[in-house]
Amino acid sequence: MTQKTWRVGVAGLGTVGGGLLQFLAARPDFAPAGDRAEVVAVSARSKSRPRTVDISGLEWFDDPVALASSPNVDLFVELVGGSDGPAKAAVEAALKLGKPVVTANKALIAEHGAELAALAEANNVPLLFEAAVMGGTPAVKMLREAMVGDDVVSVAGILNGTCNYILSEMEKTGRDFADVLREAQALGYAEADPTMDVGGFDAGHKITILAALAFGCAPNYEAAEIEGISEVELLDIKLAKDLGYRIKLIAGTSKTEGGVAVKVHPTLIPLEHPLAQAGGALNALFIEGTRIGRIFIQGPGAGAGPTAAAVAADIADVMTKAVRPVFQAPAGALKPFVAVDPAKSVGKAYLRIMVRDVPGAIAAISETLAECGVSIDAFLQKPVEGAGGVPIVLVTHATPESKLLDAISRIEKLQAVLERPRLLRVARS
Ligand SMILES: NC(=O)c1ccc[n+]([C@@H]2O[C@H](COP(=O)([O-])OP(=O)(O)OC[C@H]3O[C@@H](n4cnc5c(N)ncnc54)[C@H](OP(=O)(O)O)[C@@H]3O)[C@@H](O)[C@H]2O)c1
Repeated sequence: MTQKTWRVGVAGLGTVGGGLLQFLAARPDFAPAGDRAEVVAVSARSKSRPRTVDISGLEWFDDPVALASSPNVDLFVELVGGSDGPAKAAVEAALKLGKPVVTANKALIAEHGAELAALAEANNVPLLFEAAVMGGTPAVKMLREAMVGDDVVSVAGILNGTCNYILSEMEKTGRDFADVLREAQALGYAEADPTMDVGGFDAGHKITILAALAFGCAPNYEAAEIEGISEVELLDIKLAKDLGYRIKLIAGTSKTEGGVAVKVHPTLIPLEHPLAQAGGALNALFIEGTRIGRIFIQGPGAGAGPTAAAVAADIADVMTKAVRPVFQAPAGALKPFVAVDPAKSVGKAYLRIMVRDVPGAIAAISETLAECGVSIDAFLQKPVEGAGGVPIVLVTHATPESKLLDAISRIEKLQAVLERPRLLRVARS
């Protein structure tokens, strides 16, 4: 077979770009088909910044769009990040010129995936993004390729390592959110501005992409319901454990007759569930299909080595021409995204109600729940030192969200109740 050398242009020389350059310098002939991948040109913000890799022999571009457009580049790799700006402009420039694009950019794919897929397919070139979800753990190819013979019903995962690290540390050390976040920032596990991670937005981007791959619909980040972990209290972590659960930031998507739900919430997971076992900065994913049944994968979701390995796997797919439509179906055949009305979504819930220690409080709460049609699966009343009231904790049976919200508003007004009840979602076993 004739060998071809692909001239690769890499925009972004940070964690992932640095890892990729190191790998390709050592193993340019890693791909199974025998073609070589050689980085010939790069772009970043600062040419003079010290790098972990030697870029002295490579062509330098200040502008990623100029790099993507260079006639010396056959394959463009975007590792700058951001949903818009130079990342998007450079990806569009490469696709318009008929060049294959590999990116790790979840924000770009979640927010502009449908239009970029159309552009890629109109120019008959691949647009690949394995590294955008779960870093080095192969979730994208699994849903796009390995599971096309099945009908996926639901996907739920721990898709943000920073949040998983923070929640695991809170449970392990008994320290509160702010304290653990500060430490995570000092150790480099969390960004100086942690909003994308702890606000749930990063996980929202990733589950938006997985929903499109699982259900063959256009990605729709706007429709995602997103709640982060900054309001998770140590008290809830402890009470959840007493009830047999662990709190994780779960990004989930499921398909019902009403449409597709895409959600990110701190969620109680039964302690024996595999997702509850994935601690530290690990990522994990649970997929349910009608014929395959249940699949669970877990692995690193970030870091130079794992993420660059996923980027390299996409480069190999370009070189071996093992390329599918960008999402599960060609851009023109993607189903429109129909979002489930959140009020109609049904699930179990955890309610923590802080009450004054007075007679009749529990009876008033039970009565209100019964009036609202909310039935109770588990109940716990446990005095907690320094909690500012007595927490009454309930796990409900599966209930429509509208009924739960109605019950919460009514319970908040009861005389014995000190504050608005805390609502957390509870996963099925
Ligand atoms: N880090 C991970 O483990 C990981 C995992 C999965 C996916 N991702 C995704 O991979 C992408 C890159 O992440 P990263 O962690 O490697 O980011 P990073 O370490 O912050 O690096 C970003 C790179 O982009 C360059 N850059 C920023 N603005 C630029 C501009 N206007 N023009 C040209 N270059 C510009 C920076 O240049 P300077 O170096 O000169 O500042 C830097 O080299 C993101 O989309 C991220 O979401 C990352």
